[in-house]
Amino acid sequence: MRKQIAAANWKMNLTLDKAEALLDGILSENINPTENGQVVVAVPFPYLIMVNEKVAKRKGYAVAAQNCGNKKSGAYTGEVSVEMLSSIGVEYCIVGHSERREYYGEIDEILQQKLVLCLDENITPIFCCGEALDVREKGKQNDFVKTQMEKALFDFSASELKKIVIAYEPIWAIGTGKTATSEQAQQMHAFIRSVLAGKWGEDVAQDVTILYGGSVKASNAEELFHSPDVDGGLVGGASLNAAEFIQIIKALK
Ligand code: G3H
Repeated sequence: MRKQIAAANWKMNLTLDKAEALLDGILSENINPTENGQVVVAVPFPYLIMVNEKVAKRKGYAVAAQNCGNKKSGAYTGEVSVEMLSSIGVEYCIVGHSERREYYGEIDEILQQKLVLCLDENITPIFCCGEALDVREKGKQNDFVKTQMEKALFDFSASELKKIVIAYEPIWAIGTGKTATSEQAQQMHAFIRSVLAGKWGEDVAQDVTILYGGSVKASNAEELFHSPDVDGGLVGGASLNAAEFIQIIKALK
């Protein structure tokens, strides 16, 4: 069975005391994800070490960065390199979140550079893709997502690709309270898997974890996660509440 992941993305929220309290709340219930399950907590850079110290002791839990620099090292003021993340024990990194693409001009070439650096440092990238509302209204979502995949992923070999987690996040569902139905999510996830199969073969496609993101909540997580091609979620708003995120972890297959 593929790895099933409940990933929290705290985005740019919480001061240190609140971040620590939230994490302690999540860890307090002692839920061990299933054998193939993994809980990933993507936190702002200043909290990575604190979070890693706490989650490293727990089986099935890992810390993620929300972003990384697209250069190896050097005079890039304000950037955080993948090597730095690796040196403090970070295991996952979100790459290409729609907020990075939209507000920080992260084009496909930059995303590809980040993916290469993450793979070089053995950090698992969580590569985000997904269409805006106008694209879906025109029925062009499959073409749009396929192009995003081609541009960022198609230069990787099968063994590299297998180390990447994909997150499908329809932009119209992010932070809007509007969730894709489980049918819409399943349809797109199956399509993404078919694109992977077309390029790298069915075996590779069956191995890749594909997460759904966009207004995942305790109340809809189980229905979404139990769709055959949905392998968990990348959760924003609902991950800021410990009790709610715990329910989402419990909803993993
Ligand atoms: O990274 C998480 C996604 O952007 C989803 O955010 O759960 O607040 O809609 P959301």
